[in-house]
Amino acid sequence: MNIREEFINYFEKNGHRQIPSSPIVPENDPTVLFNTAGMQPLVPYLLGEEHPYGKRLCDYQKCVRLTDLDEIGDKTHHTFFEMLGNWSLGDYFKKESIGYSFEFLTKVLNIPVEKLAITVFKGDDKIPRDDVSADRWKELGIAEDRIAYLGKEDNFWIAGDSGPCGSDTEIFYFRSDDEIPQKFDPEDDRWVEIWNNVFMEFYKDENGNITELKQKNVDTGMGLERIVAVLEGVDDNYKSSIWSDVINKLEDITGLSYEGNEKAMRIIVDHIRTSVFIAADPAGIKPSNTDQGYILRRLIRRYIRQARKLGIDINSDFDLEIALLIIRKYEKYYSELKDNKDVVLDVLSNEKKKFSRTLEKGLREFEKLVKTDTSMIDKTIAFRLYDTYGFPIELTLEEAEDRGMKVDVDGFYEKFKEHQDKSRTASKGKFKGGLSGNSELETKYHTATHLLNAALKKVIGSSVHQLGSNITPERLRFDFPCDHKMTDEEKQMTEDLVNEWIKEDLTVEKLEMSKDEAIKSGAECTFIDRYPDVVTVYKIGDVSMELCGGPHVSHTGELGHFKIKKEESSSAGVRRIKAILE
Ligand code: SER
Repeated sequence: MNIREEFINYFEKNGHRQIPSSPIVPENDPTVLFNTAGMQPLVPYLLGEEHPYGKRLCDYQKCVRLTDLDEIGDKTHHTFFEMLGNWSLGDYFKKESIGYSFEFLTKVLNIPVEKLAITVFKGDDKIPRDDVSADRWKELGIAEDRIAYLGKEDNFWIAGDSGPCGSDTEIFYFRSDDEIPQKFDPEDDRWVEIWNNVFMEFYKDENGNITELKQKNVDTGMGLERIVAVLEGVDDNYKSSIWSDVINKLEDITGLSYEGNEKAMRIIVDHIRTSVFIAADPAGIKPSNTDQGYILRRLIRRYIRQARKLGIDINSDFDLEIALLIIRKYEKYYSELKDNKDVVLDVLSNEKKKFSRTLEKGLREFEKLVKTDTSMIDKTIAFRLYDTYGFPIELTLEEAEDRGMKVDVDGFYEKFKEHQDKSRTASKGKFKGGLSGNSELETKYHTATHLLNAALKKVIGSSVHQLGSNITPERLRFDFPCDHKMTDEEKQMTEDLVNEWIKEDLTVEKLEMSKDEAIKSGAECTFIDRYPDVVTVYKIGDVSMELCGGPHVSHTGELGHFKIKKEESSSAGVRRIKAILE
């Protein structure tokens, strides 16, 4: 069964018109890097503008969500996904919408009603409990016990911070062979959410004021990956028919099986697919150090590193083979993949060439250093490989093994520790050398900037990185990618985190390593191409590792109190924070 097509057919039969998927890079919305939900391109129409296709629409929309970047590698997360959706623009409302969803799930997809459960909005001081939805579900045959009433965090939907919004009702499916408990517990993770029906009747402005929209809309969204996995009875999305041929191809390329290599394989296929869609977008995105281009570069380099781990020759066309398979799978639905096929392949292979040169340079140094007749790589060489050329000890071991050599691993760790101790001692005083031209206050702001960057990653998501920074003795300024205006709560959490780290009086350590090692260590490496081969990385406790020329304070306790003075838009999809130390 092709669910994408079944979905469109069903809603067309019920008076909806299919609209084409919008590009993945929004055309007229500078506040977001990528479309993250099916409704995003429809905002003007939800607000009342007349849509040329009428009041009932349906589609499948390409989406990219980066908030989950670090989760990729588990069973259910993806950076790219498709969302099936149907909309009523001031036409039908709750009863009809719930009726359509119920009929599609139980009659078209043949899901037994016993496997379904529902959440509805329990109401708050401003908006009453959604009894209309609950009554409708009961009327259709959902048992009272299978309906849970939840608060705003769960049953009120808005994209980001402001815009059209409203309460929602979410449909859950029991994904397990266990006996289905009579009472629905939304915390029980055997119940997975499959569809979200949002009743958009309000507008929230940038100051948090809520007003009624001039029309009542319905916005629904169902993740294709999840519903396919659910129907196929697999508990790992990558085992569904959406992925099985791609995973098989990767198994062929590596000669390895998916079992036991799941994490690396999931990251590789997920990141290749997202890179294909970004590179094929009409916006013409190329890998770069800013905005969408930065994301594309990050995805490509990450899958290359994972491929290397699996023993793939990264100079082979392994990624292009997978990209071609993905293009063939999806081109029927997304014609830009066919039109821009050559562009996509060029983007992937050029970026790979660039990245593999960095890796190769390190390997050449390895050859030079180990050109001895001995069968043992001694601790000095092992450490020099690590310290100067960025070879983690695992890589040295692998390379040595290939040549039938051994490595003094214990000696390596001895030297490693000595070096760490030295850096700690060095970090007790302010770092010399870089301080000229920087006042004490500016030095403090440098360190505060690293803490702010680390805090934003926790509060907004791992896609945060430095796009620009400017420091004066009065304040710091920091630009970073973010698709929404920060809420007061997000700003507060960010301030609190930074102040907590200041209170902990964390040690600031200065480490020297090769670029490659810096990347491998997970250090923040924005604009990596602009740095020399050996770089300085500043490590603050366990909260931050960032490439930087310094200078920095030696302990965060010296910073005083951190305060965000302003949060504003800097340019498309980029927010700017100005903050002070008091
Ligand atoms: N906009 C809602 C969501 O993304 C429903 O489509 O979940």
